[in-house]
Amino acid sequence: MEEQQKQVEGIREAFKAKFERFADLRSTAREMKLDAAQALSRELAEFKTKHTGKKSEIAEAKKLIGKVNAEERGRFGKLVQSVEREIVEAIDEVEAKLNEYISEAETERDRLDVTIPGRRPRTGHLHPITLLRQKIEDVFVSMGYSIEDDREIETDYYNFDALNIPEGHPARESQDTFYTTDGFALRSQTSTVQIRAMERHGAPLRILAPGRVFRRDTPDMTHTPMFHQLEGLCVDKDITMAHLKGTVTEWLKRMYGPDTKTRFRPSYFPFTEPSAEFDFSCFVCHGTGTVVSGQWSVGSEENLPPAAGQPLTVRCRPCKGSGWIELGGSGMVHPNVLRACNIDPTVYSGFAFGFGLERMASLMYAIDDIRHMFENDVRFLEQFR
Ligand code: DAH
Repeated sequence: MEEQQKQVEGIREAFKAKFERFADLRSTAREMKLDAAQALSRELAEFKTKHTGKKSEIAEAKKLIGKVNAEERGRFGKLVQSVEREIVEAIDEVEAKLNEYISEAETERDRLDVTIPGRRPRTGHLHPITLLRQKIEDVFVSMGYSIEDDREIETDYYNFDALNIPEGHPARESQDTFYTTDGFALRSQTSTVQIRAMERHGAPLRILAPGRVFRRDTPDMTHTPMFHQLEGLCVDKDITMAHLKGTVTEWLKRMYGPDTKTRFRPSYFPFTEPSAEFDFSCFVCHGTGTVVSGQWSVGSEENLPPAAGQPLTVRCRPCKGSGWIELGGSGMVHPNVLRACNIDPTVYSGFAFGFGLERMASLMYAIDDIRHMFENDVRFLEQFR
């Protein structure tokens, strides 16, 4: 029995020596990297099979129990069992610690913090000119107009001749534009679309033509060599000046409120006869020409509350105290223009109007310099979301 006892104790000592590399894990597991811990865990599983499995030394030792003589068998059996328990418990303890750490570390690695606010993409938005254009288009579409889009590069014929502006006419001078080397011109007015639309559709027709136009102007606070216009054209039998006034007035009432008034002043345009410039009552002072101090924010003296001893009302800024805002040109389509488009002026008549979008936008939003609109500075543009 002494010999077997030595053998079992030998197994215990040998185990202790080999187990040493795992023993520390009971306290150091948490200091490891996750993949190192996982590798060690696989090694430990092998180690466990080797030292507690069916072919382990301790399993072999159990077979000796039967060979020990009867009086000593009990004691020897207990020894074997206690060594086996020591081995199993030692391994199990480390295994538990290691697995616990691995499971926690895996959870930590896969953690998803659902409370972190999402990254919101910066969305763009429409340019103030586009917003205004769409607002006006909506009004006219509801009145039965269709939107007509056309080219920005034109021949002299469409830009001038067909619009009753022959060579040498002084109106060519005031609308000097940019020319290409092969004789094309960047259109100086959206009135060109009147001709294109009548050629395409004939009469009757009702169109609204928005678009970019170009002029050889030196940029300043109220001029840019490229800007936007909106052109309206209505041709039908028995169209009169009353239709023009009614249409323009209805549009401006829908934009600025039902108390909006319009005013038509006699004027001259080559492509209309008679011609008129149209104004509307100021949307800030409603035609009175004055505002209560501090009521309308424009970053100027009107923005300040009235000081002691100062008048309560100040001159209205957008209309410069006149109560009226000048907006655009209009008139009854000239018979020569109808004729140029093969429309018989004895059967049909029409009205047309046109105006600039930048001017309208700068008045509405109190923009003192229209060049801001084309500088692409987001600090400016973001104000029009
Ligand atoms: N095309 C003119 C301009 O650029 C504006 C205009 C005036 C358009 C009278 C019209 C019109 O349709 O009838 O100044």
